[in-house]
Amino acid sequence: MDKIEITGGKSLTGKIRISGSKNSALPILAASLLTEEKISVSNIPNLSDIFSMLDLLKSLNVKIKKSKDKIDLTSSTPRSLLAHYDLVRKMRASFLILGPLLARYGEAKVSLPGGCAIGNRPVNLHLEGLEKMGVNFKIEDGYVTGFIDGRLKGATINLNKISVGATENLIMAATLAEGRTIITNAAQEPEISDLSKFLIRMGAHIKGFGTKKILIDGVKKLKSCSYEIMPDRIESGTYILCVFGCGGMVKLENVNNEICNHLIKIFRQLKSLQLKKIDNGKNLLIKKNKKKVELSLIVRTKEYPGFPTDLQAQLTSSLLKTKGRSEIIENIFENRFMHIGELIRMGANIKQIGSKVIVKKCKKLRGAEVMATDLRASSCLVIAALMADGKTTINRVYHLDRGYENLEKKLKKCGAQIKRMKS
Ligand code: EPZ
Repeated sequence: MDKIEITGGKSLTGKIRISGSKNSALPILAASLLTEEKISVSNIPNLSDIFSMLDLLKSLNVKIKKSKDKIDLTSSTPRSLLAHYDLVRKMRASFLILGPLLARYGEAKVSLPGGCAIGNRPVNLHLEGLEKMGVNFKIEDGYVTGFIDGRLKGATINLNKISVGATENLIMAATLAEGRTIITNAAQEPEISDLSKFLIRMGAHIKGFGTKKILIDGVKKLKSCSYEIMPDRIESGTYILCVFGCGGMVKLENVNNEICNHLIKIFRQLKSLQLKKIDNGKNLLIKKNKKKVELSLIVRTKEYPGFPTDLQAQLTSSLLKTKGRSEIIENIFENRFMHIGELIRMGANIKQIGSKVIVKKCKKLRGAEVMATDLRASSCLVIAALMADGKTTINRVYHLDRGYENLEKKLKKCGAQIKRMKS
């Protein structure tokens, strides 16, 4: 297993090109199952989660042709409508093929994704919504098998908990259903808007995406289209927190106006951090003032447009050398604190009480041998390592490779002392 070695203590200066969004690309790739016509998608990041999704689609008879910066997908009737456990276990977003398969073929057998490091991650909202659209489910041997005789039926579905994945699965299913589907208490993440815009380009009739109420009028068929994936807002936020933690000035390239506005809003309490939109929001300038400030923040993670749970760990590590006492409360997942123990081993002055983490300025943040446990925890360890004195070795960086394209190259170009040790 590869490791990453970082010698900390340097500020970051330069520019970083933001990759396409993993959490937009995954549902959009799954949506290729909704038509037998060719789909061309560009700005897809080179990430292991993307490769896992492509492997799963290939197993479902989707022809995939990769060229330099785009992927063509053509989905023909698969020999079997099964998504196997070892594919789904590796990457939970594989569960997003359920809605498209049921909409296109009226049946599907998908392994239950099971839990992961950050929580038990149930899928009840996906299944309850699809049942309202007429699907009969049977759950046995760790698989969920869904069946409907004929087309899915439009339905009014209220999600009793906001869920990104359930909203995405139900939108995709509803595009080919008979009649109108209304989803209320829907997730509003920009990645859902990106998926909706892609589906509309395929000929779907969708209104209200990006709000809590989404209306989809089903059509008989969807067609070929080309689409460019939106930039990754979590990757962008992670690099902003690298600069906040280490100091310096970095230009993020290839973002967009909505992402800039969102990031400026969620980071506005970080007083010593200057974020400036340039080139109409295509680029974002990040500058950390040298002046030492004292901060006492209270940050609660929330569904979009609140502070993203996917930046919670990175915010924690970026505050480790800041004077003051901050509280970060995780409201989305039940166990997203696996990074705390590793940070304490580096000398961090943090304490977890239930779903709250209290962060104070530590005496000295020292490099150490640490272990990544999940995707965002691993990027939080990178930030801590960049800030620490001495050398840090991060083990199990396969977690990092799931969601950050060329991280060490991007940081090295900004002056970080970072290298990957191939195992
Ligand atoms: C998506 O996961 C993202 N993944 C996650 O990013 C992100 O953390 C999460 O949304 C929240 O923003 C992708 O987009 C591929 P949810 P998802 O359904 O869809 C509960 C990353 O780091 N829930 O919005 O799985 C669930 O347990 C990843 O890139 C139910 O109870 O998240 C959680 O507490 C990690 N029943 C809450 O809802 C359900 O049927 C939010 O989960 C579904 C979810």
